Order: sequence, then C-alpha cells, then structure tokens
Amino acid sequence: MHRQAKHAFRKTARIPSLGAKSLPQKYFVSPDIFAKEQPEIFAKRWLLFGHQSQIPNAGDYVAQEVNGESLIVIRDKTGDINGFFNVCRHRGTRLKEDACGHASAIQCPYHAWTYGLDGRLVGAPHMDDVPGFDKADYSLHRVNLGVWEGFIFVNLTENPMPLEKWFAPLMGKFSHWNSSILQPAKRIEYDVRANWKLMFENYSECYHCPGVHPQLQRVSPYDSAENDLREGPFLGGFMKINPGKSLTMSGNHERKRVRRLRRQDRESSTGFLLFDFPEHASQSASRIRDGASTLAPVTGANTDCVRLAISSGRVQSIRFQTR
Ligand code: FES
Ligand SMILES: [Fe+2]
Repeated sequence: MHRQAKHAFRKTARIPSLGAKSLPQKYFVSPDIFAKEQPEIFAKRWLLFGHQSQIPNAGDYVAQEVNGESLIVIRDKTGDINGFFNVCRHRGTRLKEDACGHASAIQCPYHAWTYGLDGRLVGAPHMDDVPGFDKADYSLHRVNLGVWEGFIFVNLTENPMPLEKWFAPLMGKFSHWNSSILQPAKRIEYDVRANWKLMFENYSECYHCPGVHPQLQRVSPYDSAENDLREGPFLGGFMKINPGKSLTMSGNHERKRVRRLRRQDRESSTGFLLFDFPEHASQSASRIRDGASTLAPVTGANTDCVRLAISSGRVQSIRFQTR
C-alpha cells in the first residue's frame, strides 16, 4: 500500500548550509502548488491576526478573513480577547461586515440574534417558545486564539498544538522589547506581485542590499547578518547597526528609544520569519529593535523586480550564497 510521506519541519541547524539550493522555479510560480499550500499550510498553522493594541477597550473588535474564513476578534468586559467565526448561529449571516469597530454586543443584522462579547447567545426573538431551544447551545463558534508579546494569532483547526508550545523557542526572547504595550504609529500596505516564498527568501538575505538598498547599506553592513535561532518553524537573526546610527531614512535617531533595551539591541536590527505566515503578515512579523522601520518599503519594490525574472522559463535552482 502506498503510504504518504509525512511532512515535518526540518530544524535549520540540520539543513546543510553549504550546497543548499533554492527551491525549483515551480514553487514560486505554480498556481497548483499555491492552491495545495492553502489547506496544507495556512489552514492548519498558527497565523498572525493582529496586535492587541488594535482593541484596547471592551467591545473593540477587528474582523478579517483568514484562509477563506471571516473571523471576529473582540475584547470582552473582563479584558479577555476572544476569537469567533463571523457567522451567525441562526442562518449563517455575516455578523460584522466592517474591518473594525466597537460594539456593546454582537447583533446579527438579519433576524437580530444577539451575542455577548464572550460569544454567548443572549437574545433570540421569539425563540423561547420553540420546544427544546436552549440559548446555551448556540454560542458563536470559537476560533483558537493565542497572544504572544501582544501579537494575536489564530489557528483554524479544532485541536492545534498550543501557541505556547509552538512558540516555545521564542518565549521570553523579546519580552524586553515591550512589544505588548507598543502601538503602531503608521501602517503601510503593499500589494507585492510575488509568491510568499519569494518574499520570505528575499527577506532572509541581504546579499541584494548593496544594490537595492543603498541607504540601508550606509547604516547596517549587508554582510553582518547572523542567524540566532535554530529551533522550531522560525528563521531569524540580526544585523549590526553602525555606532550612533539608526534604521531611519536619515540614518540618525529620530525618536526616543524603547525602554529596557540592551546595548546589543541598540546596535543591531532583528528580523524573524515564521514559516507559516501568509503574505500579508510577513511585514508585520519583522520588528526593528529601536522602533524605526522606515527602510522596509523597499522590500515590495525589489520582490517585484525579482518576479519578472523568476517567471522566465530559464530560471533554475541556484546555490545559496554564504552571506
Ligand atoms: S441569520 Fe442571524 S439572526 Fe437570523
Ligand atoms: Fe530588500
């Protein structure tokens, strides 16, 4: 009998660096492979949803689609963050159409069933007379949710590995950055004409930096990058920042530093990729240690350039460089 090979993450420490090659071209351009990745990767793994600063008060919510499912993440009166499928338990109506907002309760626009911020059905007009109907049986369907350093993750499967276990190699590693209390000052979204793996690959090397990011090169040498984590589904490390410089457009410090940063934090930038992230999350996953990330926009531009080449039938796997 044919037994399907079991896929597992390979620790980066066990991947031979010398002689490692990029994936064959089809993994970056094939719609069939991309379609297979959806149920196999994105529907099964922990995915970044947002940051707790987006919903500071009870009743604040964010609604967005994750792998074809619309989800609501909402803060309740006890301060807990809950995640629900954005689907009414009565006839399946979408409960919230807007991307974010504030509500004292979640009321369905169709027949006005009303749910508390904790997902319990609290009002269902004329249903009390229906024999056997019990509101307690019709709470909103929960989605698994976890918070790491203020970042909210969701998992669409029913019994996922707990986020704490999944994130064990990163637990506590960045706590002194205070990510849980930071608030985004500005959000920029890019439509990048590239497969998510090309984004990841591009982000994981600075071989291209001298040519594509000359401003970055002036404050952070492209060949100073090192991996500093080799456990779990993560790839991450740091690059040095020249003394007295910062990753801003001017190259100088423009703002107050985040408190409690160590010296090595002030003299390096760190980026981490979580291998199961969808495209939209990869920018959010990276953090610049001194709080300035103004050089990130160029990433979109250079993966666009790369895509033009990788679509060519002449593209072959190539050995990775050592830096
Ligand atoms: S579908 Fe929501 S109350 Fe009927
Ligand atoms: Fe880049």
